[in-house]
Amino acid sequence: MKIERNAPCPCGSGKKYKLCHAAFDDKIKKYEREGCVLPPRDIIKTPEQLEGIRESAKINIAVLDYVAENIREGMSTEEIDKLVYEKTIELGGIPAPLNYEGYPKSVCTSINDVVCHGIPSEDEILEEGDIVNVDISTIYNGYYSDSSRMFMIGEVHEEMKRLVDVTKECVEKALEQVRPWGFLGDIGQAINDHAKANGYTVVREIGGHGIGLEFHEEPWVSHVGTKGTGMLLVPGMVITIEPMVNMGDAEVCIDEEDDWTVFTADGYPSAQWEVMIAITEDGYELLAY
Ligand code: MF3
Ligand code: CO
Repeated sequence: MKIERNAPCPCGSGKKYKLCHAAFDDKIKKYEREGCVLPPRDIIKTPEQLEGIRESAKINIAVLDYVAENIREGMSTEEIDKLVYEKTIELGGIPAPLNYEGYPKSVCTSINDVVCHGIPSEDEILEEGDIVNVDISTIYNGYYSDSSRMFMIGEVHEEMKRLVDVTKECVEKALEQVRPWGFLGDIGQAINDHAKANGYTVVREIGGHGIGLEFHEEPWVSHVGTKGTGMLLVPGMVITIEPMVNMGDAEVCIDEEDDWTVFTADGYPSAQWEVMIAITEDGYELLAY
């Protein structure tokens, strides 16, 4: 199916194809001939969609900032859930986790050996020395955003602090690798290399993901990938990078009772930071962090 170069561009911009997406499509075809894994068309966002996602991400950041201002020792994770729910609604959003595949709360709160998807509870109290990941996701005008940060409660043991810092560095190392027409595997390799160099392991079973029009879209983003392999990174893609880094072994298990909470198998602590980015013509745009 060849598009006439003088015909209107199928993207709906109203411009002629040759002045709009022709060069982009030629580039895609070149990589396809070389045997690259291409992203499906429908995960390449239009400028309008990107704007919607950007607005959603602004709320996500504001809610995380609000948690950062209010989180403290002695608070239950249920109270964090309440903060997130109320702030998100106040800003016109909807917490994406609430009722997502049966998830019962508005946020994930994952303490110490909980790797991710910890469910807030009245009985769970933040104590001095805890490290906790607060993972926030927002729907605004139908657009999704997702990011998470670590918080340290009071004085935290030096080894735990180092885990939190190195995990954040893993995200930064990954971001240094992100470029248009690069590879998804570049991200995972950078994360795994940095974690390994610091004596840590990276969780393999859970990854980042495409996001924007839905909570979880293609592609799946491995945090232990191999440089130069995997899907091509193309301008207009929106993905999360959210490594879970373990102090002990990489093995994890899921709580049999709630079917959500992911723990480290060996009981050692785990940390996670999550950013959301758009691939651009000259690098990436940090949408939420
Ligand atoms: N925010 C998580 C992620 O990063 C998704 C959690 S799903 C939930 O992908 F239902 F547990 F919220
Ligand atoms: Co995510």
